[in-house]
Amino acid sequence: KALNYVRDGMVIGLGTGSTAKYFVQLLSEKIVEERLRIRAVPTSVKTLAQAKGLGIPLSNLNVEARLDLVIDGADEADSQFNLIKGGGGALLQEKIVASASRKMVVISDRSKKVESLGKFPLPMEIVKFGADFTRYQIKDILSELGYNDVRLAWRTNNELKFNTDENHYILDAYLGRISDPKILQKELLSCPGLVETGLFINLAKIIIWGSEDGSTEILEAV
Ligand code: A5P
Repeated sequence: KALNYVRDGMVIGLGTGSTAKYFVQLLSEKIVEERLRIRAVPTSVKTLAQAKGLGIPLSNLNVEARLDLVIDGADEADSQFNLIKGGGGALLQEKIVASASRKMVVISDRSKKVESLGKFPLPMEIVKFGADFTRYQIKDILSELGYNDVRLAWRTNNELKFNTDENHYILDAYLGRISDPKILQKELLSCPGLVETGLFINLAKIIIWGSEDGSTEILEAV
């Protein structure tokens, strides 16, 4: 279904994760079958490697002023098109690419559709310098917003702190329920050591929900 948004000549952002991976594969097939002249901007080292291996013509944001479309997965989405992303640790590049795109199409399975965000731990990308201090600052910000006793855990990989493509750490916040994603995002960004959060607000325009039986539901923002 997401392939239906692809047109000849487009510059397309390629998301990251197990869902986006299928899209990248199918896109490469469509490019060959329909001889499309497309340039793609990947959102992670992993997606770049996949796209390169499949022969998809690549570009980057130093060359492209604007992208037509980005297709990406999500960890959670509410009915206002707010998302939590970054479960795979690629949130920063994903957000830069989404903000550069005219349209963001989310592909996801229905289990990620929520009333309110927050059950999925919110990933935050943190600068290594003073990382533990930043963690305390975040704890304070959260307490001031009424999120008390929130577990803040460094993401790990083989018992070492996870390293993002931009050489930062990821801190996961177990919030349970996010009452106001916009305010939370604004307040968290006041912390200098926090680069970005996995809250994607006002970015997704279309969500394609897939189900195990093969059916899909498409939601479009008005
Ligand atoms: C990558 O860091 C994430 O933002 C993914 O887009 C998100 O975690 C969804 O991934 P899956 O499709 O693997 O669930």
